[in-house]
Amino acid sequence: MVTTTWNRHHVISLADFQPDEYDTVLHTAASFREVLSRRTKKVPALQGQVIANLFFEPSTRTRSSFELAAKRLSADTLNFAPGTSSLTKGETILDTAKTYLAMGTDIMVIRHREAGVPLMIANEMDRLETRVGIFNAGDGLHEHPSQALLDLFTICALIDPEKPRLSLLKDKKIAIVGDILHSRVARSNIWSLTASGAEVHLAAPPTLLPKLFADFVHPQQPFPDKKSNSSTFPSLSLTPSLPHSLTPSLPRKLFLHWSLEPALQNADFVMTLRLQKERMTQHLLPSLREYHQRYGITRERLEACHPDVKVLHPGPVNRGVEISSDLMDDPKFSLISQQVTSGVAVRMALLYLMGSGKS
Ligand code: CP
Repeated sequence: MVTTTWNRHHVISLADFQPDEYDTVLHTAASFREVLSRRTKKVPALQGQVIANLFFEPSTRTRSSFELAAKRLSADTLNFAPGTSSLTKGETILDTAKTYLAMGTDIMVIRHREAGVPLMIANEMDRLETRVGIFNAGDGLHEHPSQALLDLFTICALIDPEKPRLSLLKDKKIAIVGDILHSRVARSNIWSLTASGAEVHLAAPPTLLPKLFADFVHPQQPFPDKKSNSSTFPSLSLTPSLPHSLTPSLPRKLFLHWSLEPALQNADFVMTLRLQKERMTQHLLPSLREYHQRYGITRERLEACHPDVKVLHPGPVNRGVEISSDLMDDPKFSLISQQVTSGVAVRMALLYLMGSGKS
């Protein structure tokens, strides 16, 4: 029997998520996947609740799937477009959030280009002693929890469609390749995938994977010096000396590489990341062509991986840069469409878990 563990009012980060919370999301999402396969794809779970999508930064997948998820749960939805809102007249973000609060919003789904905005609004909602839940739908370079949870569901449901669970990834090898420096998706995925016991290998050019990145996972351990292998660093593990919020009981297997080959060798899953050209404020790459030559995921490169390897990408994709166009469209390898499909069931699960205690 599966137990449900959920005490969260807000979801801002996966850094302190526990294994049973991941399993709660996975089994709840599996139930909603079944709902979505019915002729009537709707349940009354959040009837009467109001869910506001406050997206201060562009989005296709996240915004649409949160909206569809809310509608499938019978909630009323509000969509905010910054360009036609009173932000253009000087209203602040906090006053915008308080306006939605005054309209009776129960959950605010927030995306912003600056890290920390969803947390700031969550703190303000708590200070005002409201029961509004805040979901971080991507904040700057910080985190994108729902993307990592839908990635986790996509992978686990591929291994066991009936009972997707975290422990299925124990001893799997997962490579995360690309613009890790600017990726909130990578940061959230590192928390969830390492919590499963999987080996997670990050691969990127040094400019997009600085040594300091290791501090993200292990702030107190100095980054190991390069030794014999010019591109591979030893694994880093969290230790009990970390603050409790970083779940010290979980040993995390994280490897960093400045070349692709050691990350791809026998990998079960390869997660590619978009080159975030809009966030590159300095010359971090010689050219996109050279990047593709050295770090692009192609059919030939996958030959080094496990024979059943699958490729993921959070989207949007720069075709022919981080992944070759033909590979992206090849259902033998690509899980990109499944990720988008999983997104609705996973976001239904998250809204349901956050909202079901409110009514
Ligand atoms: N993966 C993702 O966040 O995509 P969108 O920017 O389209 O929401």
